[in-house]
Amino acid sequence: MRYNVIKDANNIINKSPYLVSNPEAYKNKWSSLFENDKPIHLELGMGRGEFIINMAKSYPNINFIGLELYDSQMVKAVDRLRGQNLPNLKLINADAKDIDKFFGKEIDTIYLTFSEPWPKKQDEKKRFTHESYLRLYDKIFKKHKHVILKTDNKTLFQYSLESLSKYWYTFEVVSLDLHHDERKIPNIMTDFEKNYDKTEKRPIYYLDARFED
Ligand SMILES: C[S@@+](CC[C@H](N)C(=O)[O-])C[C@H]1O[C@@H](n2cnc3c(N)ncnc32)[C@H](O)[C@@H]1O
Repeated sequence: MRYNVIKDANNIINKSPYLVSNPEAYKNKWSSLFENDKPIHLELGMGRGEFIINMAKSYPNINFIGLELYDSQMVKAVDRLRGQNLPNLKLINADAKDIDKFFGKEIDTIYLTFSEPWPKKQDEKKRFTHESYLRLYDKIFKKHKHVILKTDNKTLFQYSLESLSKYWYTFEVVSLDLHHDERKIPNIMTDFEKNYDKTEKRPIYYLDARFED
C-alpha cells in the first residue's frame, strides 16, 4: 500500500490499537497501561518497526515501546501490526527529545538502532548519545542505566563510546563486526540493518553499555 499524503498516514496511525496518542498521560503509569510489572524497553527512532515488533514477539516477558518521529515511517509499522496480537508492545509518534514528558523513572533499557549520525559539528546535540540525551535518559531510567546501540557509522560509534565513557557507563559488550562476531551475540535485525546487510560489506558496530550504582 502507498501513502502519498501524510494526512492518510496520520489517520491510519491514529486508528492503530498500538498507538499511544497521549503519552504524557501515562507518565509513571506505563506498567498500568501494560497491566503488569514487567521491564519496559524503549527504542528511539524505530523507523518501520521491524526490530521492536520482532523483539516483542521474541521476548513476551518484556514490554516494548517504539518511538518514531515521522508519520511516513510509523505508518509502515502500523501496517505490519495489522491483525497481530502483541499486548507487550506500544508505539509513540513523537520526537525523542520529549521523552522526559512521557516517562518517569520507569524504563529499563534504551535501544538506539542505526540512529542518524548527524556528522556536522553544529548538529552534534541531535545525536542520541550526546551528553544532553544521556542526561535525558537519566530522568527515565528506572534504577540502572542500560543502552544498546547498533550502527554502521564508525564515526558515530566512536563518538558514542567516548560520550558514554565520559558519562561513566561501562561496556558489557563491544563488537566491531556484529554479524561476524565469534561470540554469536543475540541479534534481531532492524529494517535498515537487513537492507544494509544485503548491499554493504562494511561491518555493523554494536555496544551494550551499563551504569549501575
Ligand atoms: C536511519 S533510520 C533507522 C530506523 C530503524 N531504527 C532501523 O534501524 O531500521 C533513523 C530513524 O530515526 C528517526 N528519528 C530521527 N530523529 C528522531 C527523533 N528526534 N525522534 C524520533 N525519531 C527520530 C527517523 O525518522 C528514522 O526513522
